[in-house]
Amino acid sequence: MKYNPKGMPFRRLGPSGLRVPLFSLGGWLTIGGTVVGDPVKDIIKTAFDNGINMIDTAEVYSNGQSEIEIGRVIKELNLERTDLIITTKVYFGFKHGGSPNDQGLSRKHIIEGTKACLERLQMDYVDVIFAHRPDNTVPMEEVVRAFNWVIEKGWAYYWATSEWSAREIEEAHHVATRFGLIGPIAEQCEHNMFHRERPEKEYSPLYQKYDLGTTVWSALAEGLLTGKYNDGIPPGSRFATQSFLKKRMKSLHETAEGQDKIRKVRELTKLAKDELDTTPAALALAWIARNPNTSTVILGASNPQQVLDNLKALEVIPKLSPAILEKIERILGNTPKTMHPDARPRLDKFAKL
Ligand SMILES: NC(=O)c1ccc[n+]([C@@H]2O[C@H](COP(=O)([O-])OP(=O)(O)OC[C@H]3O[C@@H](n4cnc5c(N)ncnc54)[C@H](OP(=O)(O)O)[C@@H]3O)[C@@H](O)[C@H]2O)c1
Repeated sequence: MKYNPKGMPFRRLGPSGLRVPLFSLGGWLTIGGTVVGDPVKDIIKTAFDNGINMIDTAEVYSNGQSEIEIGRVIKELNLERTDLIITTKVYFGFKHGGSPNDQGLSRKHIIEGTKACLERLQMDYVDVIFAHRPDNTVPMEEVVRAFNWVIEKGWAYYWATSEWSAREIEEAHHVATRFGLIGPIAEQCEHNMFHRERPEKEYSPLYQKYDLGTTVWSALAEGLLTGKYNDGIPPGSRFATQSFLKKRMKSLHETAEGQDKIRKVRELTKLAKDELDTTPAALALAWIARNPNTSTVILGASNPQQVLDNLKALEVIPKLSPAILEKIERILGNTPKTMHPDARPRLDKFAKL
């Protein structure tokens, strides 16, 4: 199958030359987990037919099954490897609770873990290999050197981080600069209307300083921002099927904080419908995609229709006028207070911070 971008915008992934589609597809919980066999092919084919040529996975997703399914489907659909951007992640190991060296960011696990990912994917290389979490038990020099080794071997073209603190990302850059090595090009972080502090505040100095780009996960707060959980838990949904998420869902319906989120989703739904003629999901995704620091928004989808519905966000992005953005901020009421990266914090009249 030949790739046709179908109007999909592309952005550079951070400071690199790699162009990534504004919307990509991810495989956490779904591909190889709740979705196996032909339905995986339907999701990937629908995404690819509609301009999504980037797929994100990880060694730990469904204990390696996500990578296996993605590799199988890419072969079966006869997709050209050069048309695709494939990203995977090492850190958790391919089975939770494996032996001490089957996980983490030691040189041993970065190298052995990457090789195992490639075997499951049936590929010679991935485009980007992510450190799925920081590992403060390993010297940063060992981590940076190991990812550079993986790149030198041709097993990955770039490396990146996921859920690292700003301090850890800076440390990786300092080590890379000091030894003439390649630094991380992106951060895969959670970013959605209810989760803003880290991507919008903590990382803010890094966007300019290192040209950091984000590959955003859970832009729909795992489906909450679609409005589907407003009145309970629909059968078959993620919160109904994943036991580890049930507690979180319970708190959504039983705590004041949870009820506040649902109230905001209802208000966003009304705004989306009345003023933009769209869905709350498309609005929430467009709102993340319009952020210039977002390189790609990774869509999670348990069926092809969700991919199609969510791509409607592309039509919403140009409609997000300053007035609409202001209304969204008023509904959310959680605008992070950013500090100019170079500014010293103001002192009060007693010269205290
Ligand atoms: N680096 C990391 O630590 C990390 C962590 C998490 C995720 N990720 C990556 O980011 C990707 C996306 O994360 P996510 O799956 O949490 O994203 P999400 O977009 O917040 O949630 C996706 C889920 O929401 C529901 N949904 C999506 N569109 C819908 C629609 N139009 N109508 C109704 N329900 C809809 C589906 O769940 P149901 O149909 O099951 O209800 C779908 O699986 C993952 O696949 C993974 O690649 C990375």
